[in-house]
Amino acid sequence: MQRKIAVVGTGYVGLTTGACLARLGHHVVCADIDTEKVARLRAGQVDILEPGLADLVKRGLADGNLEFVVGAANAVAADTEVLFLCVPTPMGADGAADLRAVESVLAEVRGILPAGCAVATKSTVPVGTADRLQYMVDVPIVSNPEFLREGSAVGDFLNPDRIVVGSADRAAAQKVGDLYSALEAPTLVLDAPSAEMVKYAANCFLAVKLSYVNAIAQLCDRVGADVQAVTEGMGYDPRIGRSFLKPGPGWGGSCLPKDTTALMHVADSVGLDFGLLRSAIEQNAHQQADVLDRIRQACDGTVRGARIGVLGLAFKAGTNDLRDSPAIRIAEALIGEGAEVTAHDPAITGEMPGMRLVDDPYEAVKGAIAVVVLTEWPEFRTLDWTKVAELMDGFTVVDTRNLLDGDELAHAGLTWQAIGRPV
Ligand code: UGA
Repeated sequence: MQRKIAVVGTGYVGLTTGACLARLGHHVVCADIDTEKVARLRAGQVDILEPGLADLVKRGLADGNLEFVVGAANAVAADTEVLFLCVPTPMGADGAADLRAVESVLAEVRGILPAGCAVATKSTVPVGTADRLQYMVDVPIVSNPEFLREGSAVGDFLNPDRIVVGSADRAAAQKVGDLYSALEAPTLVLDAPSAEMVKYAANCFLAVKLSYVNAIAQLCDRVGADVQAVTEGMGYDPRIGRSFLKPGPGWGGSCLPKDTTALMHVADSVGLDFGLLRSAIEQNAHQQADVLDRIRQACDGTVRGARIGVLGLAFKAGTNDLRDSPAIRIAEALIGEGAEVTAHDPAITGEMPGMRLVDDPYEAVKGAIAVVVLTEWPEFRTLDWTKVAELMDGFTVVDTRNLLDGDELAHAGLTWQAIGRPV
């Protein structure tokens, strides 16, 4: 059955939610405060690199069940049944999530939300927020966390592992859950704090898993084991699973760093010493420091004055998102130590402070003492490594994603430095 929905915030979560709910047959009005962005969206232009999203937006616009307006209040009508909050909840100075955007939207719509409407929070908010914000509006607040990965958000939305909804008002939670009834997925109707906790607990578990695997990779390096074989051996155990076991330059992006810090903050605020999570966050900083060390070693101890070719800046392949990207952290540290950084990322154009950004990967490696692969773009794998070797001034390729073929690099006369893999 078609429902009338308002979505506030057209970032990757809001726009995916709006476009996919329209795809499921609902009537969706998406609001943003950015007038120019709304104008672009009305013209079917999507700024985010998210496979399938632009097509869904165009389809929704053509079918007339997806609209874009400026300002949250303009998205609410007398027949709006659910309003989704998809505005940013960045990390505040104290590590707690900053809820000002959520609160300001609620303040804007509180007087105009029709009776019978529910407010659903998609933004990741600290445990207890739905209940705490309830005083601001007369309609029920439902936590409905998203589990979308950047780069596959549309696919994740339309093929979810689970739908989680939580509220003190179970009927309202069920109503939000029913919006997804066309999708085949288990629906968990919970209380609000549990629904909010599912999201943090899941993201923090993923971060702990990656920090663990990154530490295992470091250990493999020191004992001469091959982390690729080790994780394959681990992955056969269904309790561990095969996915999310790839070591890298540390985890990043707009979610895991923010959510781990926020859950740490929640634990601190209730007097729980969540040492395990703290260690995972610390390991992530060590991982980035270790990559820097490897690059320094490739440059005879110091990168000062050395030209370094950086391949990849996005926090993971398939996106153009630079938020909390380990690649950016590492490139900035190199620049801070006096290196001359030339970078290439297939999804990034324009200016990057302190470095030269080039469109051609071969231009990025020209004259480099060391090359470092920081994002797992598949096209880096198929570069002509003999040509790279000819263009470089040095010999070492630090492959933080274990992406490249070591034999091929050796054949080209290059030294392949992977993470947790014997050369
Ligand atoms: C993450 C979660 O995976 C989603 O389930 C969640 O919905 C989302 O956050 C969110 O909270 O909105 P995302 O930030 O898009 O999704 O990125 P991931 O694919 O989880 O990657 C996170 C980081 O881990 C990246 O830096 C990636 O390169 C790294 N990673 C991932 C590895 O180093 N190794 C792996 O095996 C997997």
